[in-house]
Amino acid sequence: MIRCDRTPAWAALRALYAANAKTFDLREAFATNPQRFAEFSQDAPHVFADLSKNLIDVQTQSLLLDLARQCGLEDRRDAMFAGEAINRTENRAVLHFLLRNPAPAHTGRAQAAPENIANELAEMHRTLDAMLAYAEQVRHDAAITDIVNIGIGGSDLGPQMAVLALEEFRQLGKRLHFVSNIDGQELAGVLAQLKPHNTLFLIASKTFTTTETMTNAGSAKHWFEAQGGTDIAGHFAALTTNVAAAKAFGVSTTFGFWDWVGGRYSLWSAIGLPLAMAIGAQGFRDFLAGAHAMDEHFRSAPLAQNLPVRLGLLDVWYRNFHGFTSRSIAPYSSALRRLPAYLQQLEMESNGKRVDLNGQALPFATAPVLWGEPGTNGQHAYFQMLHQGTEVVPVEFVAVKRAARSLPGHHNKLLANVLAQAQALMQGKSDVGGHKHFSGNRPSTFLMLEELTPASLGALIALQEHRVFVSGAIWGLNSFDQWGVELGKVLAKALESRLDSGDAAGLDGSTAGLLQRLQSPE
Ligand code: F6P
Repeated sequence: MIRCDRTPAWAALRALYAANAKTFDLREAFATNPQRFAEFSQDAPHVFADLSKNLIDVQTQSLLLDLARQCGLEDRRDAMFAGEAINRTENRAVLHFLLRNPAPAHTGRAQAAPENIANELAEMHRTLDAMLAYAEQVRHDAAITDIVNIGIGGSDLGPQMAVLALEEFRQLGKRLHFVSNIDGQELAGVLAQLKPHNTLFLIASKTFTTTETMTNAGSAKHWFEAQGGTDIAGHFAALTTNVAAAKAFGVSTTFGFWDWVGGRYSLWSAIGLPLAMAIGAQGFRDFLAGAHAMDEHFRSAPLAQNLPVRLGLLDVWYRNFHGFTSRSIAPYSSALRRLPAYLQQLEMESNGKRVDLNGQALPFATAPVLWGEPGTNGQHAYFQMLHQGTEVVPVEFVAVKRAARSLPGHHNKLLANVLAQAQALMQGKSDVGGHKHFSGNRPSTFLMLEELTPASLGALIALQEHRVFVSGAIWGLNSFDQWGVELGKVLAKALESRLDSGDAAGLDGSTAGLLQRLQSPE
């Protein structure tokens, strides 16, 4: 595998950037090419994408596709789908897409799974059936009024984002709570609203060792027992790969998953149980089916018409050639308000790496900072900087064509705003006075869903997963480990006991000073 910056395509892109980038002008590009919208937009399963307001032309796109080929992108993608252990530092396959593979009973078609993972698939479908049966049972259990998901990172962000996004598909009136922070205020605030015999706690943790989750789970169990609750089996369930640890914790109702599902890719597994409880078994299967349609697109569409590939290559173009340091995500949908937080983990935990697959330092930039808020709120906060700041930040708009529920006049105003922002970023506005001058030519991508449904949300999320795979594969790094979170965890353990003892010996001056200040009675 050739490192991306040593390929001929990289050199050609550098030359193209040096020759054209300073003068590339989106307004001119549209004026000279009436076909630009058609050429740079495409339909993918459940998602329409307009890439035409990006700083690319036919030549750039073709060189980016050369880069993908020269970096062996197709081989890397096929290796993932074939179940190879592409997560090398943990010696694991990456098979979360399998969780979306429909069982023959649901399609009437034979499964397209590689032979070496057929057994996993059968086991996976048994677990899915059991989990969905449990979800339906709880949904129809009138005694359970509150469901509390205790988990963090991938065991929180995905289900929380999706439950909010599909609020309109919620079929019954149970309250769903998400507790992630180790700050006891969060759990205490939720517990204050609950009665033990009406509550079901879902302890969601791939490893069942994460301090935040274990601490919250322990406190929830303690509260439950202190309130006179005795039926742990009826009021606690664990969603984990570590069934033994769940059992040791005292939970006997467990839905498992596998080490080939990364935490930030686990929404499709038992970690999706809160979503299944919210939207029902069929809704959850529709969600998986939407993602599966995007998997098939990624797996089989030619690179030039492959939306995750086009988006991932655009990310590389902006990060490594334009030098843009961040990307802003702007969902014009209140239901998608947690999408930015979810995508932050997906992008930055996957590709925020500085070494290649062999541990060698990479001499170029990798993951951008991903950030955002729902539109139109962001417009009234930080869009000023997007329009007139000194940094160029590519924006990814997400719009939903038909609102599930709206009040008269609202949806058109919302859509007018998203169109206007993309237009304003590109067009700019001349003003000699300076303060009212908008330079324009600021890039954006526009993703459009016909409706926000379980299927379209599934497809949108799978699209994002695969685009992150694409940029990670070009950069030649491991998108599926997360060693960068470990050091802080270890240090926190050591500091916890020092907070009790007050022992600051051997600490750096700042940490020692802060520890002593936190310890001091005044
Ligand atoms: O610390 C990071 C991380 O491992 C994430 O990758 C993961 O989603 C999160 O912690 C939670 O982990 P777990 O599901 O094992 O509790």
